[in-house]
Amino acid sequence: KPFKRLLLTGAAGGLGKILRERIQPWADVVRLSDIGDMGAACEGEEVVQCDLADKAAVFKLLEGVDAVLHFGGISTENTFENIMAANIAGTYNLYEAAHKHGVKRVVFASSNHTIGYYKTTDYIDADSPMRPDSLYGVSKCFGESLSRYYYDRTGIETVCLRIGSSFPEPVNPRMLVTWFSYDDLVESLRCALFTPRVGHTILFGASANPGSWWDNSKAAHLGFKPKDSSAQFAANFPESGAYPPKDDVATIYQGGGFLMSGPQYKD
Ligand code: NAI
Repeated sequence: KPFKRLLLTGAAGGLGKILRERIQPWADVVRLSDIGDMGAACEGEEVVQCDLADKAAVFKLLEGVDAVLHFGGISTENTFENIMAANIAGTYNLYEAAHKHGVKRVVFASSNHTIGYYKTTDYIDADSPMRPDSLYGVSKCFGESLSRYYYDRTGIETVCLRIGSSFPEPVNPRMLVTWFSYDDLVESLRCALFTPRVGHTILFGASANPGSWWDNSKAAHLGFKPKDSSAQFAANFPESGAYPPKDDVATIYQGGGFLMSGPQYKD
C-alpha cells in the first residue's frame, strides 16, 4: 500500500465516517482521530481520541504518520472561542506537529465559506481573494494561509480542498451548484495524496454541476476530473430554474445560509 500510516482527523464526523470506509486501500494503517467517539478500531485501524486544541496530544498523534487528511474541527458557524480552539489552535497544532515529525503532505478540508461573500453570479478561481462569510469561514482562511506558510517555510505540501456540499444528494437549490458527491470527494483526495508534486494547491471540491461558480484550472496539475453531476437531481427542485431566484442574501451570495448564520445575528 502507498502509505504506512495515514491520519484522518474528524473521523467521527459526517465525512469522516464515509472516508473511514473508503481510504483503507491507501495505507497499511489508518489512524483515526476525533474528540468524539469513533467506536472500536477495525483491522488496519488505530483509534486515538483527542482534542485538536491539546498541543501535546496532537504532537503524539502525528508520530509515525506519512500523510494527513485533516477533516477535524468545527464545521459550521459557532462562537469565536470555540472556533479559535478547534480550528485555529487545532490546525496550528496539527501543522507544527506534522513539521516536527517530518510529515510530507496534508489535505486540509477547507470550505466554500472562505469565499462565501462572492455573488452567485460571480465565477472565481483559486487566485480570487478570499471573502469569508462567517467566523467559521475566517478560520478556514487561516488554515489556508497557515498551510501556505508551512509550505514556504518547511516544504510540507498541502492541498486545500474547498469543499462545496458533500452529502448523499443535494437537498436545496443551492446544492445543485455546490454538491460534491462522495465518490468525487474520494477521487479528489486520491489525486491530492498521490500527485507527485502539489506544492500548495487550492482545489474547489464540487462535482461537475451545471452552472458552477468555480474554475479549477489552477489545480489542473492534480488531474482531478469529477464524474458525478447534480443534473440528475434537478427535477427535485422545479422552482430553481432561474437560480438565484430571490432577492435575499442567502441566494445573492455563494455562502448561502451562512450569510444569515452565527451568534452575531442571534443577539
Ligand atoms: P462534522 O462536524 O460532521 O465533523 C467534524 C468532526 O470534527 C466531528 O466529528 C467533531 O467531533 C470533530 N471535532 C470538532 N472539534 C474538534 C476538536 N477540538 N478536536 C478534535 N475533533 C474535533 O463535519 P463534516 O461535514 O464531516 O466535515 C468535515 C470537514 O470538512 C470539516 O472540517 C468541515 O469544515 C469541512 N467541510 C465539510 C463540508 C461538507 O459538505 N460536509 C463543506 C465544507 C467543509
